Amino acid sequence: MAERRFLFLMGSARPGGNTEALARTAAEHLPEGAEQRWLHLDDLPLPPFRDVRHVDDGVYRAPVGNERVLLEATLDATDLVIASPLYWYSVSASTKLYLDYWSAWMRVPGVDFRRRMAGKTTWAISAVSDDDMAVADPLVGTLRLCAQYFGGRWGGALLGFANRPGEMATDHDALTRAKTFFTARATG
Ligand SMILES: Cc1cc2nc3c(=O)[nH]c(=O)nc-3n(C[C@H](O)[C@H](O)[C@H](O)COP(=O)(O)O)c2cc1C
Repeated sequence: MAERRFLFLMGSARPGGNTEALARTAAEHLPEGAEQRWLHLDDLPLPPFRDVRHVDDGVYRAPVGNERVLLEATLDATDLVIASPLYWYSVSASTKLYLDYWSAWMRVPGVDFRRRMAGKTTWAISAVSDDDMAVADPLVGTLRLCAQYFGGRWGGALLGFANRPGEMATDHDALTRAKTFFTARATG
């Protein structure tokens, strides 16, 4: 098993979009020997999240189906790459739903989710169609704070400008940054 295992979680609501294009460029430059796995959240739809923390004993049952696939992929990764386009200044709905499930997984007996998340690095990749990249601050803050909630490391955010499919190819600055995104940044 490789020392670094990157899980790319794609949160766009369309296939082959700009966020994925930026993520694919970054993934060509992973640390040496690192493995990569790609999952599209729309291929693994989750039921609406239910908050049963304060019902009975607040224990969540062991996940099945797509939820189990996503939990196991999450646990297996050393590095979580949340690749969501900017939707209304934050992450896409499928990405947010996946994050909500972290709250359930913390409470599944035997999973030890909190401790295992503490050992991971979380990264953000996003396509933004606004000239001002600061509009993505809520997305970046959400992902950074979620990672840090568990004591995990924050790898950083890679943002590119694009709106129509294929447009990421014109953001040369973002594509250049993508090439060193996973190797040049200090984590902490
Ligand atoms: C529901 C929705 C909400 C969006 N909200 C924003 C936004 O708040 N700010 C922004 O700059 N672009 C916004 N966009 C534009 C997308 O971020 C942009 O088209 C991006 O390139 C899509 O990435 P994708 O091709 O990976 O899906 C929105 C697009 C959609 C469909």
